[in-house]
Amino acid sequence: MSAGKRGALIIFEGCDRSGKTTQSRLLVKHLKSKGLSVLAMNFPERSSSIGQVINSYLTNSKDLPDEVIHLMFSANRWEHMNQVKQQLLEGTTLVVDRYSYSGVAYSAAKGLDFDWCYAPERGLLKPDAVFYLRAPAADDLANRGQYGEERYEKVEFQGRVAKVFDKICSKEASYWHQLDASQSVDDLHAQVAGIAEELLPKVANQPIDKLS
Ligand code: TMP
Repeated sequence: MSAGKRGALIIFEGCDRSGKTTQSRLLVKHLKSKGLSVLAMNFPERSSSIGQVINSYLTNSKDLPDEVIHLMFSANRWEHMNQVKQQLLEGTTLVVDRYSYSGVAYSAAKGLDFDWCYAPERGLLKPDAVFYLRAPAADDLANRGQYGEERYEKVEFQGRVAKVFDKICSKEASYWHQLDASQSVDDLHAQVAGIAEELLPKVANQPIDKLS
């Protein structure tokens, strides 16, 4: 990598079981095969002390008020921002499974105010691209296995989450790419890889923005 060229911040968003984890792994593998410096991340990042509380909440072994868990998800992103920024500036592309938009979508789907949910995300690094894997009918997602083990994995709730993602997607259309999650893994990957390959050289000399 030549001096000064930064990596891209690429996010996958969508409902539970929409294929984000598979697609983010495939993208990392693909970019690595091109000789690029790339790392995978996911939020929630469950290993920190905040992450461990989130994990206890998600696995139903701990209850917390909706506002408190919302702020913990956000704090979990904030505690990793310096490291993320450093890696981007060193030229590493980060492929991240979930980010601020999941924070907003899941909490707003519970009934919390949308703007209140978004406020703690302001100032975090702005993604260069978000791949929104738009879910087919929620009951289709339920057939993808292991649905229902964690707190939010309920068909009706996922439908509400999808509505919030749709709203964010139309507001943030300039860097969101809505993709049909019901197509084959290979077809979806081909679309994702094509967009990512075009993106990387474009952002390499651009400053890193913040969410506003
Ligand atoms: P995961 O299955 O991708 O590890 O995410 C765990 C759950 O946490 C998933 O149902 C989405 C939810 N979530 C939030 O509610 N707020 C957030 O900020 C994030 C990142 C995830």
